[in-house]
Amino acid sequence: MSIRILVTLTLGMALFGASTGCGGESKPSPEATSAAVNTDKPAEPKAAEPAPAPTPEPAQADVVATPDEQGLVHVTANDQMRFSANRINAKAGEKIRIELKNVGSLPKEAMGHNLVVLKADADVTAFGTKAMAAKATNYIPADAADQIVAHTKLLGPGETDVIEIASLTPGAYPFVCSFPGHLALMKGVLVVE
Ligand code: CO
Repeated sequence: MSIRILVTLTLGMALFGASTGCGGESKPSPEATSAAVNTDKPAEPKAAEPAPAPTPEPAQADVVATPDEQGLVHVTANDQMRFSANRINAKAGEKIRIELKNVGSLPKEAMGHNLVVLKADADVTAFGTKAMAAKATNYIPADAADQIVAHTKLLGPGETDVIEIASLTPGAYPFVCSFPGHLALMKGVLVVE
């Protein structure tokens, strides 16, 4: 559409130039140039450029943890209810070892953390609801055991635990902290390729 308007304007200017017979001046007048630019402007954002993608929140950006030389993946959890990674990369068919360290200082009863790897098709929200009611078993719900691949202990400040998974088939396995209220912020995905 904007091209058509420009062509029309250019034709108009050429005709105007011819009819008035202004010999030496081949440049369009400043008025004509600015008119063409102004006409062209409104159509541009829709036609040429797609709307810029929304800037992702920092919390949603992938922070990837990978195994060290000994094959151990290090993840920490803090008093701000955050894991140090929201993505863990692992290889299919190989042993997976994940260490969780609680680097916070708040008491376990108020800010305990665990790392629970769920099955690829697990309903994370439903699991979280059941976990909240499982205080007696440190928020590992017995009635959702079939959703769990592996989990650490519930850790207080300075404590560490390691989970070992013999092997997994390729897929995306959600992991969460199942302490009440933490799941919304403390979650990620174990990607097995
Ligand atoms: Co937690």
